[in-house]
Amino acid sequence: MTKSERWDVLILGAGAAGLFCAGVAASGGKRVLVVDHAKAPGEKIRISGGGRCNFTNLFTEPGAFLSANPHFCKSALSRYTQYDFLELVERYRIAWHEKTLGQLFCDHSAKDIIAMLLDEAGGAEVRLSTHVEGVVHGPDGFRVSLSTGAVDAPVLVVATGGKSIPKMGATGLGYDLARQFGHRTTETRAGLVPFTVTDRLSEMCRSLSGVSVPAEVRCNDGAFSESMLFTHRGLSGPSMLQISSYWREGDALAVRLCPDTDAFDWLRDRRVSDGRKAPATVLSDLIPRKLAEHLVALTGLTGTMGDQSDARLAALAKPLTDWTLTPAGTEGYRTAEVTLGGVDTDGLSSRTMESRTQPGLFFIGEVVDVTGWLGGYNFQWAWSSAWAAGTAIAAR
Ligand code: FDA
Repeated sequence: MTKSERWDVLILGAGAAGLFCAGVAASGGKRVLVVDHAKAPGEKIRISGGGRCNFTNLFTEPGAFLSANPHFCKSALSRYTQYDFLELVERYRIAWHEKTLGQLFCDHSAKDIIAMLLDEAGGAEVRLSTHVEGVVHGPDGFRVSLSTGAVDAPVLVVATGGKSIPKMGATGLGYDLARQFGHRTTETRAGLVPFTVTDRLSEMCRSLSGVSVPAEVRCNDGAFSESMLFTHRGLSGPSMLQISSYWREGDALAVRLCPDTDAFDWLRDRRVSDGRKAPATVLSDLIPRKLAEHLVALTGLTGTMGDQSDARLAALAKPLTDWTLTPAGTEGYRTAEVTLGGVDTDGLSSRTMESRTQPGLFFIGEVVDVTGWLGGYNFQWAWSSAWAAGTAIAAR
């Protein structure tokens, strides 16, 4: 028989969910080993939120998550909440601020969150640059072949995340393991990802690259009112990233720029107050100058505001209030913040994240078919699902 190490708990993935789960299980007295093929733990945390980690959202509630079963996330989110994680952050004296829409960021660096998670997981061993070569289940529990040798454990936690950003070490291992143990996986696709465009729209995006404007964007069941950004490749910015999770190939997006203003009424008022000014000059009080010039040229307006009929002002207002566009695609996993879909929640306990069919096997974090909106929701799911599993494991 091959020699192997024995642990109470083996966690695959030293990301947000894996590290947090390790701390919870180890504080319950379990001997925990966390393995990751990356050279450093929590790499996605490090780059998240522009280096400041948007670690939770004050408005976290189940409606902010997409899943084939929208009820699945409720139990974990209600038992370990955004306030629980915030209390931990404060206990570590990590300075934070609310940026917008309940999004909480570190004042200094995302590395503060990684250091906190590693400290919390202090009772566990974190083994990096370690590859998973195979997993089998036998009478003694799970036997996992690692590049460092075999490990036996009665509890195996899969916290290997989604497929987004393969350059940073994302793999489909979690989905493969789920299928190996008889679980179904739902279709996976890139979420919170910029759109690509073609043809005339592509010229427009290139010429307006860098311009950001408030926009309400709708598609299928999703509607978001945040800013959007024109880029060299297409459309990005929070409202576009958000709606990308609701978009399917071929779908059109309904866009309303400056959703808080009735553009036609606004233009008519300005025709009275600023009749001598050029339409682009007036419109640039409402939207960035470059975009204003583009829309005036698109509408073919000449002369001053005073020269414009109601019909012409309505034509100018139309692309602002009623713009329908069909993206060519998305940038895909290369730049996506998350992976939609994953391990089918029907096969898991919503209370513990344990497999219903393979005792001792847990799935937590992004690998599960639960995906949050942009704004700290995905980390909160990582913390909540990890806590649910960690407390159940500690109590075994
Ligand atoms: P995570 O991806 O964190 O960890 C998985 C771990 O498993 C990794 O360490 C990986 O190396 C390891 N692994 C994978 N395959 C393996 C294999 N075959 N063998 C061994 N190890 C393996 N969310 C949010 O709420 N606020 C934010 O500010 C941001 N910002 C953000 C920016 C960017 C650029 C990205 C890409 C993502 C975000 N996110 C985010 C999303 C967030 O990072 C994500 O939802 C969580 O990290 C998911 O946590 P997990 O622990 O499930 O996976």
